[in-house]
Amino acid sequence: MTKPKIFVTRARVPEAIELLKSQFTVEVWPETTPPPKHILLEKASICDAIMSEADDQIDEDVLESGKSTLKVISTRAVGFNNIDVGAATSRGIIITNTPGILAESCADMTFALILSIARKVAFGDREVRAGRWTVFDQTPYLGTDVYGKKLGIVGLGDIGEKVVKRSIGFEMEVFYHSRTAKPEAEEKYRLHRVDLDNLLSICDYVSIHVPLNVDTENMIGDRELRLMQKTSFLINTSRGPTVDLDALTSALNEGRIAGAAIDVTHPEPIPFNHPLVNSENIVITPHIASASKATFTAMGVAAAKNIIATLNHDPIPSPVN
Ligand code: GLV
Repeated sequence: MTKPKIFVTRARVPEAIELLKSQFTVEVWPETTPPPKHILLEKASICDAIMSEADDQIDEDVLESGKSTLKVISTRAVGFNNIDVGAATSRGIIITNTPGILAESCADMTFALILSIARKVAFGDREVRAGRWTVFDQTPYLGTDVYGKKLGIVGLGDIGEKVVKRSIGFEMEVFYHSRTAKPEAEEKYRLHRVDLDNLLSICDYVSIHVPLNVDTENMIGDRELRLMQKTSFLINTSRGPTVDLDALTSALNEGRIAGAAIDVTHPEPIPFNHPLVNSENIVITPHIASASKATFTAMGVAAAKNIIATLNHDPIPSPVN
């Protein structure tokens, strides 16, 4: 019997590739950039499974091409906004993701961003490297405290809750906005549930943790940024399109908010000549909130196990559809 064929769209997690190779015929895309569409169309038409990354565009054409061959597309990510799940479902193709695993790492990174923008960590580092630290004078580096401040969590899922846990050590007062009330978390962490407008207007740090979908695209635009205080900071580790970057650029340039720290942009990578890249009151990291070595590897292995379970007709650890 011929072995099922798997196409892996990047050679990123050797442990996952080895696991797949122990059972299947595996082909790995050798470039660091996503395979072009014609490659995805071709592989979809001859493979049983694709292990993909968050920036592979798995659209209806790809799913149509794989409708008689593909059993599963397993994304090594928690977000699946890059996959047309409806088109997959209607063709009987299973989509899986890797929820849960990255929550602690993303929460760590959220605090790294909060501290970095509030206490001018990245700015200070840039000044030292540029040879501008020539006199012992703290005044250009005066930041904003984090402890004791008001933190607003937009989207209280796994990641949002881990951020709340960390905020306890910083003695923060926490507000959250979520479609569904989370009474257990409210009681456990003494959270206040408020609507988005209220959260934006009262919180010192606003941190976004929603999935990207039609309801959350551009959820932070000009109107929302105008609700924030001049002394407040915006943090985004979710998906770039949740924040309108033009509106954010204006808010920062006009001093309507104190700063922003974003791990995600739209587009990604953000062009080097984008006005935000040259703003002083922003920290931008290259979509690495989940990227500790351990979490990166665990997500790869989980994505491989989703494929193995699907093709062996075992219970699938994390199906999306
Ligand atoms: C990373 O951005 C993910 O969705 O896992």
